[in-house]
Amino acid sequence: GSRPLRVACIGAGYVGGPTMAVIASKTSPDAVQIQVLDISEERIAAWNSDRLPLYEPGLTELVFGSRGRNLHFSTAIEDGIKWADLIFVAVNTPTKECGIGAGSAADLTYVELAARQIAAAADTPKIVVEKSTVPIRTAEALGAILEACGRTSFEILSNPEFLAEGTAVRDLCEPDRVLIGGNLETDSGRRAVETLTELYAHWVPRERILATNVWSSELSKLVANAFLAQRVSSINSISALCELSGAEIDEVARAVGLDARIGPHFLKCSVGFGGSCFQKDILNLVYLCESFGLNTVADYWRSVIAINDWQKQRFTARILHGLYNTATNKKIAILGFAFKKDTGDTRESAAIDVCGNLLQECAKLSIYDPKVPAEQIWTDLTRRCRRTRDELAHYVTLAESAEEAAMNSHAIVILTEWDEFRTLDYAKVYKGMCRPAFLFDGRSICDMKALSQIGFVCYAIGSPVDSRIRLR
Ligand code: NAD
Ligand code: UDX
Repeated sequence: GSRPLRVACIGAGYVGGPTMAVIASKTSPDAVQIQVLDISEERIAAWNSDRLPLYEPGLTELVFGSRGRNLHFSTAIEDGIKWADLIFVAVNTPTKECGIGAGSAADLTYVELAARQIAAAADTPKIVVEKSTVPIRTAEALGAILEACGRTSFEILSNPEFLAEGTAVRDLCEPDRVLIGGNLETDSGRRAVETLTELYAHWVPRERILATNVWSSELSKLVANAFLAQRVSSINSISALCELSGAEIDEVARAVGLDARIGPHFLKCSVGFGGSCFQKDILNLVYLCESFGLNTVADYWRSVIAINDWQKQRFTARILHGLYNTATNKKIAILGFAFKKDTGDTRESAAIDVCGNLLQECAKLSIYDPKVPAEQIWTDLTRRCRRTRDELAHYVTLAESAEEAAMNSHAIVILTEWDEFRTLDYAKVYKGMCRPAFLFDGRSICDMKALSQIGFVCYAIGSPVDSRIRLR
């Protein structure tokens, strides 16, 4: 008889958790059973509790609906591997911090560890699916380890993930495409691709499921992120020109994006892109190019990051110039700390850099974010400033609301585009602030005319700069 397909996922993070939750919700328990495995006891305990380890719209409902039915979270990695037919590897692949390629190459420690765990435990044939974002040809290394250390046969697939945080559930339910790289030259390779295709075909139309060779699949993931980040850096580079020339960045983006060849998405100017992927994946691509001797190509992609760093610096400089070139002991309200709205994730958030820069100016920050846990903000700032929490506590407080953060402040600084910052009662907030009251909008989400009428001195990324800010 036919039993359910047994799916394991090594890594219960931002990718493993939501991806497996969506697969579980789209399949029946007698068709698919899923075990999500992690070395972190704390993470697994959180996945099994009422408070999931991460915030993502719609995720709690999905997990509660499937948990204990066809979705299980566990630290019993060895058992999970033995049990599974198909194993996703969704572990972290951060940028290397030391050694050869430090600062750009991907750190494959966790991927290799996962491969060795699979090789050691597996006693029946497995399909191993590379879900983590990895340098091209990582599947080859995985294969070599599995073959040398394992007792059974393995088929390796590449299946990169394209979800964005904040919209993960929607992206997983309605993906633009699912990419599966496999060895299409052999029968067993084609069968493995077909098994994974069938899993996705429970809810993804077959014409959106793309099969390629493994190397194309691995590389496509890096290239997709590099192109997306490049669009943000492109619009951000033009935002600087707008500020000085009288053009409005949002009008320019709209006009340019209406060209069907360019398209309207991903043209929103900002204080800089963040998130765990863009910078890491571009650096990964840069390192690959350099290792093949393609230095001009490497420089081209590196410039996407250079513009992003510059944008964050530029924004801090605007704040400082606005505040008469001194922020010392001035209370500044920081609205938003996550790297984008609808997530509690702060990895590589522009807020960390901007706050770090303002702390160097001895400003007093009052930070509010609706979803980022307080502990996370302290961890990010102590690491970035290389100061202890006690030292920082003199300069940093965490607020429970935007209004509280803004009370008695000299300036409001918007760093994340949370919807609630669009609809804040700014007239009321203004009354509680020092004069002149400044507002620096790093996401260009506020109505500058209305704010100026209230009395704010405003600056928004990409809009012509008020002479009261520019001339100092
Ligand atoms: P994460 O840090 O949130 O989660 C990774 C998890 O893997 C952690 O919980 C860690 O404890 C666990 N882990 C590491 N080694 C392990 C091992 N040997 N055995 C068991 N568990 C282990 O990372 P993430 O954001 O989910 O990213 C995972 C991968 O997916 C990365 O390669 C990333 O580039 C890629 N990716 C991320 C996103 C995103 O939006 N975050 C999107 C697409 C792709
Ligand atoms: C990204 C990719 O979009 C996703 O496909 C991949 O799987 C992982 O990396 P993510 O980093 O979660 O997803 O979010 P994304 O929406 O891409 O935003 C990244 C950063 O760019 C954020 O800081 C966001 O605020 C910024 N951004 C995005 C802009 O500044 N302007 C835009 O127009 C779009």
